[in-house]
Parts: sequence; C-alpha cells; structure tokens
Amino acid sequence: MEFPRMKYARNWISIGGAAVTTLSAALFLIVFLLDALGFHTNPYIGIVVFLILPGFFIAGLVVIPIGMWFERRRQVSGRRPSKPTWPILDLNSPVARRTTMVVLVMTFLNVVIVSLAAYRGIEYMDSVQFCGQVCHTVMQPEYTAYQNGPHARVLCVQCHIGPGAPWFVKSKLSGVRQVFAVAAHTYSRPIPSPVTDLRPARDTCEQCHWPAFFHGDKVVTLREYAEDEANTESDTTLQLHIGGGGERADVGEGIHWHVNPGNNIRYWPTDDKRQVIGRVELTTPDGKRQAFTADGVTDAQLANIEPRTMDCIDCHNRPTHTFAASAAKAVDSAMADGFIATSLPYAKKEAVALLTAAYPTREQARDAIATGLTDFYRTKYPDVFAKDQAAVERAARSTEDLYDRNVFPDMNVTWGTYVNNIGHMDSPGCFRCHDGNHKTPDGQAIKQDCDLCHSFQ
Ligand code: HEC
Ligand code: HEC
Ligand code: HEC
Ligand code: HEC
Ligand code: HEC
Repeated sequence: MEFPRMKYARNWISIGGAAVTTLSAALFLIVFLLDALGFHTNPYIGIVVFLILPGFFIAGLVVIPIGMWFERRRQVSGRRPSKPTWPILDLNSPVARRTTMVVLVMTFLNVVIVSLAAYRGIEYMDSVQFCGQVCHTVMQPEYTAYQNGPHARVLCVQCHIGPGAPWFVKSKLSGVRQVFAVAAHTYSRPIPSPVTDLRPARDTCEQCHWPAFFHGDKVVTLREYAEDEANTESDTTLQLHIGGGGERADVGEGIHWHVNPGNNIRYWPTDDKRQVIGRVELTTPDGKRQAFTADGVTDAQLANIEPRTMDCIDCHNRPTHTFAASAAKAVDSAMADGFIATSLPYAKKEAVALLTAAYPTREQARDAIATGLTDFYRTKYPDVFAKDQAAVERAARSTEDLYDRNVFPDMNVTWGTYVNNIGHMDSPGCFRCHDGNHKTPDGQAIKQDCDLCHSFQ
C-alpha cells in the first residue's frame, strides 16, 4: 500500500473540517489572549470560548482524516490493494518526508491548542464566575451572600469540591445533571441544604483552618433595638469559649473540642435537614464509646439512618452564604453599624414592617421599601425629615440592601429559609444535642449549663 498522500485531503469534507478547526483555533487564540490581558468579564463568553469553541476545534480535526479516508476509497475503488497492510513509511521518498513533517508540525500545534483549551476550560469551570453567575437566578441567593461574606475571595470549588481528580470527576458528572435541571426548569426552589455530597471538612475547610489552633475565648456583643419610638438599645455581651487545642491536647477543649482529631462524634438525624437528632455517639481517644439517645427514640427508628460524622459544617453550615435569621436581626445589625440611624423615630419598626411585606419582584420591593420609608418620615415626622434628610435617605438605601441580600422571590428564599446552626436562639442549633434530652442508658445527658459554651459579661 502506498503512503497516504496529502492529495486525498482535497475533498469537501476535509476542507470543511480544516476550515472549522482553523477558524475556531484563531478565535480561541484571540480571545485567550484578550482574556489573559484581563478583557473578559462576561460569564457566557467563557462558555462559548472555553467549552464550545474547543469542541468545534476537535470535531474539525476528526473530520479531516474521515474525509481523506472517503476520498481515498473513492479514488482507489476498483483497484484492490495487493497487500492490505499498514502503510510503509519510507523517509527516502520526498512525498513521505513532506507529509510526515506536515503531520508532525500540525500535531504539535494541535496538542498545544488543545492543552491550552483544556487548561483554561477547567480553570474557567472552577471560577466563581462560572459557579455563581452562569445560572444567574438559581445561584443568586448563594452568590449574593458569598460576595458579602468572609470567604468572598475563596473559590466556590475550594469548599464545594476540594482538590484531587476523583472529586473533580464526581462534581462534573453532577454538574451535567444540574445543567439539564436548569434547562428543563426542574431544579428545586430554594436549592435544598444540607448539601449531602459535600466533601468532608477536613479536605476543604481544614486546608485553611486548623482546629488545634483555636484557643481561648472570643467576645461578641449582640446589639438589639426595640420597636419603640426611641429604638431603645439593649446589649448582650457573650464570652464564647472557642477552645480548640488547649491544655487537654489529646481531646482539646471548649467549643472546638468537637473537631479535635482525638474525638469522633457521629449522629443519626431523623429529618432531611439534620435539625432533629435521634442519637449522638462519642468515641474518645481511650476508645471509650458513649451513646446519647433522645427521649423516646428507639433502635428500630434509627436502623435505616446513615450516621453522619460531625465536622465543621454541622455548626458552621452558613460560613459564607450567611443570611440574616430574621428581618429584625438584619435591621439590628444595620443599626449597630450605623447605616440606619437610631435617631430616626420608629426606624426599627418601620424598616422591619417594610422588609417583611410580600413583593412580587425584587425591583418592586426596592421601590416600595425606599418610598415607604421616605414617605413615612416626610408625612409623620416632617421636622425630622427636614432636619436630617440625608439620614432618612441612607436608611432607605440600607433597608433596600437588606432586602436585596436576604430575599429572593424567584428562588422562594426569604427570611429564615436557611437556618443557621451556630447558636440556639433563632433555630435549635447547638440545642439539637445540648437540650438535656439526649442521654446515655444510665441517664447522663449532654451538658446544657449556660456557661459550658459562653459566659455573660
Ligand atoms: C467557605 C466555604 C464555601 C464557599 C467559598 C462557597 N460555599 Fe456554597 N456552601 C457552603 C456550605 C458549608 C454550604 C451548606 C452545606 C450544608 O448545609 O450542607 C453551602 C451551600 C451551598 C448551596 C446550597 C444551598 C444553600 O444555600 O444551602 C449552593 C447552591 C452553594 N453553596 C453555592 C455556592 C456558590 C455558587 C459559591 C461561589 C460563588 C459557593 N457556594 C461558595 C460553603 C461554601
Ligand atoms: C481557601 C482558604 C479557606 C477555606 C477553604 C475556608 N476558609 Fe474560612 N476563612 C478563611 C479566611 C482567610 C478567613 C478570614 C476572613 C476575614 O477575616 O475576613 C476565614 C474566616 C472564617 C470564619 C470566621 C468568619 C467571621 O465572620 O469572622 C469562619 C467561621 C470560617 N472561616 C469557617 C470556614 C468553614 C466552615 C470552611 C469550610 C466550609 C472554611 N472556613 C473554608 C479562609 C478559608
Ligand atoms: C460544635 C460546633 C462547632 C464546630 C464543630 C466548629 N465550630 Fe468553629 N465556631 C463555633 C462557634 C460557636 C464559634 C464562635 C461563633 C462566632 O464567632 O460568632 C466558632 C468560631 C470559629 C471561627 C472564628 C474564630 C475567631 O476567633 O473569630 C473559625 C475560623 C471557625 N470557628 C472555624 C471552624 C472550623 C474550620 C471548624 C472545623 C474544623 C469548626 N470551626 C468547627 C462552633 C463550631
Ligand atoms: C451532634 C451533637 C452536637 C451538637 C450539634 C453540638 N454538640 Fe457540643 N457536644 C456534643 C457532645 C456529645 C459533647 C460531649 C458530652 C458532654 O460534654 O456532655 C459535647 C460537648 C460540648 C462542649 C464541652 C467540651 C469540653 O471541653 O469538654 C462544648 C463547649 C460544646 N459541646 C459546645 C457546643 C456548641 C457551642 C454547639 C453549637 C454551635 C454544640 N456544642 C453543638 C454534641 C454536640
Ligand atoms: C452548647 C453550647 C451553648 C449552651 C449550653 C448555651 N449557649 Fe447560649 N449561645 C451559644 C452560642 C454558640 C451562641 C451564639 C453566639 C453568636 O451568635 O455568635 C449563643 C448565644 C446566646 C445568646 C445571644 C443570642 C442572640 O441571638 O441574641 C443568649 C442570650 C444565650 N446564648 C443564652 C444562653 C442561656 C441562658 C443558656 C443556658 C440555658 C445558654 N445560652 C446555653 C451556645 C450555647
């Protein structure tokens, strides 16, 4: 059999393939350069350039030899090759030399382009832009909270996926399912938590935070305002026993005692949201195992429940998508931070009333809240309005922002949709276990003394 000649490439299929490949390579390289120089900001351009164009590039490449094969079959049809074997590569033949050179150079270029595309495609799919903005409506609540949270510079994938190939593949498979759900509008509103296939915190959170390093106490002051004319302030100052490594290095102490490597805590939740806990089992470094079962819960009820090993997420379930527990709490913190002036009469009451009313869309909510608050002062307190119009306007803007950060009608997310497990006032939180009702067979309960976790100052 003679060596395949480039002449077979002169057919419409191969030329079409070459054109598609060349065009997509050129477009890809141009946008790749623009992107490297910092010109690319639109998340949808990313999909086209980093995922779809490379697809066309490779499809074009595949089509070229297919066209050549058909062409060769056409040209040699009727002439049976005497020996149907592999082509002989004789580099003494100038044709073979030229073809080999062309194939080698083109292959090298193709490998470079495909690697660039694969590298940038993966990097793009790991970007906050891709995770947070492509499916805009779906991710809007989490993305908004994320941008205002302490982890705004941590990539979504650093918490949701973590490093390593197996989790990468797992996440891409589940991503394909999600794309169909978004296309078919079958996704849940709100997106449910807990995220059951979240990677264990030791591979995500603990890449940056190390439990043995926590120590001592943290003082937090929680400020509340009454719904009276003066917005009367009351403070609670808690000294939280953060703990961690501490003196009992093998088990740790204080609140972060739970995640000291010496201790292992497993629990059996009896609901989907992990808010009701049937049994807790503690294993200490000496091998001692204790089970605390909730009053009235039987072994049979727990038989089919997969126990969960407690980690950071069981308390810090909202480390970054932190929504205010209620409109009242949201207004309290805006007042404590000075965005809503406490000198405005009934500011707390009015803001909370406007924030908890129902609005069909976010745009309508913004208008109604801003005009509602300004009109209240203009009509009811004209002297306050005249004297301090700037404060009224700042309060109106800030109240709009509170709505924007916490309520998402399209996703059915509103005040209290996502509960935070870190305390015990707005939701069961710590008291899911520390409620005095989870006991060992001999009647010893998980402790609930008020100064176990914090002292008041
Ligand atoms: C600091 C870690 C961290 C980062 C960064 C992070 N998340 Fe999350 N995310 C979590 C945790 C923890 C949960 C709740 C898991 C649970 O309760 O099981 C969560 C839950 C979610 C949920 C489920 C719905 C909900 O609100 O509970 C979505 C959707 C989500 N995250 C999207 C994102 C997107 C998009 C980004 C990037 C813009 C992102 N996350 C960045 C930690 C993180
Ligand atoms: C890539 C590194 C990184 C990862 C991963 C990470 N964090 Fe953080 N986290 C930080 C940094 C940095 C800060 C400090 C931010 C600041 O002070 O503004 C922080 C702050 C925090 C805080 C204190 C927040 C506050 O309001 O003071 C908590 C709680 C926390 N992280 C929990 C978690 C949990 C839980 C996870 C896993 C779901 C996690 N982090 C994953 C880097 C990370
Ligand atoms: C038993 C519940 C619980 C577990 C488990 C837990 N934490 Fe905490 N953590 C708390 C509480 C409560 C606070 C103090 C709350 C606050 O700052 O308002 C806190 C505070 C923190 C802070 C802020 C510390 C500071 O000095 O400001 C970080 C960071 C943190 N935790 C990270 C983690 C990480 C990472 C893990 C997992 C290795 C973890 N926590 C496991 C309950 C827990
Ligand atoms: C899944 C169950 C569970 C949850 C949720 C839970 N704990 Fe615990 N906690 C335990 C168990 C079990 C013990 C050990 C038994 C005991 O001390 O009574 C314990 C012990 C403690 C201790 C004593 C540690 C030491 O130094 O010996 C502190 C402090 C504590 N928890 C704080 C918290 C805080 C704060 C929260 C909420 C943010 C919380 N726990 C949520 C199960 C839980
Ligand atoms: C298992 C640990 C634990 C126990 C036991 C505990 N607390 Fe708390 N408490 C917390 C945590 C964690 C917070 C949240 C701190 C924060 O918001 O950062 C909190 C917050 C509070 C707050 C402020 C809440 C707010 O939102 O204004 C009060 C008040 C309070 N606790 C009272 C008590 C009293 C009274 C007891 C005794 C019956 C008690 N706590 C027992 C862990 C505990």
